[in-house]
Amino acid sequence: MIITIDGPAGSGKSTAARKLAARLAIPYLDTGAMYRVVTLLALEDGVDLNDEAALAEAAARGDYDLDLGPTHIRATLRGRDVSEEIRSMRVSDHTRFIAASPGVRRLLVERQQAIGRRLGSLVTEGRDQGSVAFPDADLKFFVDADIQKRAERRLHELLADGEEVDLAQVLENLRQRDRTDSQRAVAPLTVPDGAIRIDTSELSIHEVVEMMLTHIRRAGLQVPDAGQHDV
Ligand code: C5P
Repeated sequence: MIITIDGPAGSGKSTAARKLAARLAIPYLDTGAMYRVVTLLALEDGVDLNDEAALAEAAARGDYDLDLGPTHIRATLRGRDVSEEIRSMRVSDHTRFIAASPGVRRLLVERQQAIGRRLGSLVTEGRDQGSVAFPDADLKFFVDADIQKRAERRLHELLADGEEVDLAQVLENLRQRDRTDSQRAVAPLTVPDGAIRIDTSELSIHEVVEMMLTHIRRAGLQVPDAGQHDV
C-alpha cells in the first residue's frame, strides 16, 4: 500500500504522515529530509548553489544516508548524525536551490521509488510524491492550511529546537518557499490528480489522521485494528 501526502511547509503533513504510518504499521518516508541533507552537504562543501552540474554531482556522491525508523528518520552526513541540523533555518533558507535542480530531483525521486519497491508499503510525504514519484499510489492526500497557522506551527517547532527566530522570519521563509516550490519548472508543488484535499487550519493532528483513515477504509484498503497501533 503506497499512500502519498503532499503539501506546503507547516501544513502538518510530516506529523500526519508519521502518525498515519504508525497507525497502519508501515514505514514512512520524509522526502523533505532528503532535500535538506543534500542542502547541508552543498553548504558544507561550498558548492555553488546555482551550478546545476555541481549540485547534481554532489547529490550523486552519496556521502549521506537516511535511516528509516518506525517513528523517525535519522539523517547522516559522512557518518555524522545531522537529523537536527537539517531542520535549521540555515538549511530551510537554502533548500530552494536544491529543490529546483533537475539532476538532484531525478536522483532523489529514483531513490524514493526504489525505497517504495523495496518496502512495498509506505506513507511518503513531500511536494511531488503523488504527482511525480508515485503517480499510481493507492491513495493520495494534499494537505494545506492558512499561512499564519503554518508559520505559528513552524515557529513552535523551531523554538523547541532552540533556534532564535521570530514569527516574521518564519513567515518570510514560508512565503518564499511557497513561491519557489509552486513556480519552479521541475515538479512544482501542485495538487496531484485524484488527491483528497484536507485543510488542517482548524483541525488537530488526531482529527487529520482519523480523516485519512476514513478515506483509506473507504478505498477498501486494510487498516489494522486500533490498540497497539493507536495514535
Ligand atoms: O518538507 P520540508 O519543509 O522538510 O522540505 C524542505 C524543502 O525541500 C521544501 O521547501 C521543498 O523545496 C523541498 N522538497 C521538494 N520535494 C519534496 C520534498 C521537499 O522539493 N518531495
